[in-house]
Amino acid sequence: MSFPGVDALCCPHCGGALTDGERRLSCEEGHAFDLARQGYAPLVGAHSNLTTGDDAGQVQARQDFLAGGLYEPFLEPIRAAAAVDAPGVALDIGCGTGYYLADVLHRTGRTGVGLDSSKYALRRAAKAHPALGAVLADAWRGLPLSDDSAAVVLNVFAPRNAVDIHRVLHPEGVLVTVTPDPEHLEPLPKFVRMLQPQERKEDKLIESLSSHFERSARVPVHFETPIDRKTVHTILAMGPTARHYGPEELRRAVDDTVPETIDLTVSVTVSTWLPASL
Ligand SMILES: C[S@@+](CC[C@H](N)C(=O)[O-])C[C@H]1O[C@@H](n2cnc3c(N)ncnc32)[C@H](O)[C@@H]1O
Ligand SMILES: [Zn+2]
Repeated sequence: MSFPGVDALCCPHCGGALTDGERRLSCEEGHAFDLARQGYAPLVGAHSNLTTGDDAGQVQARQDFLAGGLYEPFLEPIRAAAAVDAPGVALDIGCGTGYYLADVLHRTGRTGVGLDSSKYALRRAAKAHPALGAVLADAWRGLPLSDDSAAVVLNVFAPRNAVDIHRVLHPEGVLVTVTPDPEHLEPLPKFVRMLQPQERKEDKLIESLSSHFERSARVPVHFETPIDRKTVHTILAMGPTARHYGPEELRRAVDDTVPETIDLTVSVTVSTWLPASL
């Protein structure tokens, strides 16, 4: 079976097309990339930094949390935004466990590329859907995909490099982002000091994308839901806060401060962006 999405991939060293061999991808220049035992392709270029990728504990927490279904309401607006006719793969940058990409592949019948800098995330993503090719790479170091090769680019709570996304996105394709609103995950910061990822800020999102994309739709997803203390812990354990606290310290902080159940605010924006003609 060939590696899903191989036609869209390119060599991180020379940019040449990649072909599929016995559990390895290689280019004409002789650069070769052995697939990991768990099925992902390590297309890691020079100067890549993989240290920002989620660690094993964060990935396990994310898997557990998503399995609980709390973010299921994001799926429909993502699917709707991803329904385009352009040719190419569906690429998910910072795909994590592949939860959103697998759903898009299931609905659209496309082939997908899930890119992440965490090998722990990719072990899951590689199994999330048979048409999903999992790729280890640093999203800030040049995407190992050829020009115009993606019909859809997903970017859900993850880093984004506007220039390179524009390069790989087909002119008739779409970029779909999911970003947290300021009140997302209230009232958790009242109980535990939370690290706020940079992409939390709406103006940062617009600033980072508006030179290369025009936003064509914006769908707010906003609801409140009761959750128990265990779920609070899982949410904190999958995010950047987990890196600040050690596992024991995080457990104690949650047990000491969070009531048995709380009402959680979930508030995100699903945005559709069209590539600007530059
Ligand atoms: C908040 S998680 C979101 C994961 C997934 N999109 C989801 O919502 O379930 C951010 C993801 O970005 C990945 N990531 C962080 N820095 C990255 C980088 N420089 N290049 C690629 N992926 C990166 C992390 O490993 C993690 O899987
Ligand atoms: Zn090469």
